[in-house]
Amino acid sequence: MMCLRVLLVASLLLLKPTSAEAKLSKNKLKTNKYVDKTMSQCTRCVGGPSGVAGPPGPLGVQGIQGIQGVQGPQGVRGATGAPGVAGRNGIDGESGPPGQKGQRGLPGKPGRRHVTIADSVAFSVTMDTDMSKTSEYRVVKFNVVLSNLGGHYDVTSGVFTAPKNATYMVGFNGVSYDGQSTLLHLVRNSTRLLSAYDSAGCTCKGVPRDKGSAGNVAILTLQRGDRLWVELPDRYGLHNAPYHNYATFYGYMLFPIT
Ligand SMILES: *[C@@H]1O[C@H](CO)[C@@H](O)[C@H](O)[C@H]1NC(C)=O
Ligand SMILES: *[C@@H]1O[C@H](CO)[C@@H](O)[C@H](O)[C@H]1NC(C)=O
Repeated sequence: MMCLRVLLVASLLLLKPTSAEAKLSKNKLKTNKYVDKTMSQCTRCVGGPSGVAGPPGPLGVQGIQGIQGVQGPQGVRGATGAPGVAGRNGIDGESGPPGQKGQRGLPGKPGRRHVTIADSVAFSVTMDTDMSKTSEYRVVKFNVVLSNLGGHYDVTSGVFTAPKNATYMVGFNGVSYDGQSTLLHLVRNSTRLLSAYDSAGCTCKGVPRDKGSAGNVAILTLQRGDRLWVELPDRYGLHNAPYHNYATFYGYMLFPIT
């Protein structure tokens, strides 16, 4: 650099300038005394070796904080997050007012009968022979069967045997024999339950009375196997005749006990 300037000044000195140019150069040289001096020095200078780089200078003073930048544009909307966990049930609300009365329902199906024909129990029997009084207790053997559903009345013995634990309705009736009073007992096993009586042979308002009717009815809860019959004690008679069936014995099951 220094050498270039030396060459430039040297070439200016060697060239013969015009008068105007010379005047300008003269002024220029005049004003640039320092340059001249330098040039005059440089003409004798030889370029020395470059100096060693100095140590780094001290850390500069911290600069002033810059002004806040302009807010950037709004970002793109993010993806929808996963559904959250279900919340807990809320507390029960207050009871509402009672609803309106509903319409009447359809009629129900007919109920089941307590007793079907297959397991029905009923008997009704009478007799067509007289029983004149004797000295013995006798079972009245009703020999004419009007009905015997289930076959639980035994015509040979005159005994009805209850086929199941149940409530039964049982009755009996008899007419006194000519001049003989009648007394009938309804017996379960060996126990007398009911009696029916009618006197005969008495005088009623001056007229001899020779016949009367006696009967009774019971509702009994019987155990399976209980036996029922009608008994005619000694000294009493029963009047019947063919086609005059006065005496009767009957019974039927009302409700089975399950
Ligand atoms: C009938 O009744 C008796 C006495 O209550 C009882 O011991 C018996 O088990 C009953 N029998 C049936 C078949 O229900
Ligand atoms: C009546 O007698 C029958 C048969 O003898 C028996 O099974 C039944 O338990 C007796 N009934 C009573 C109440 O004792």
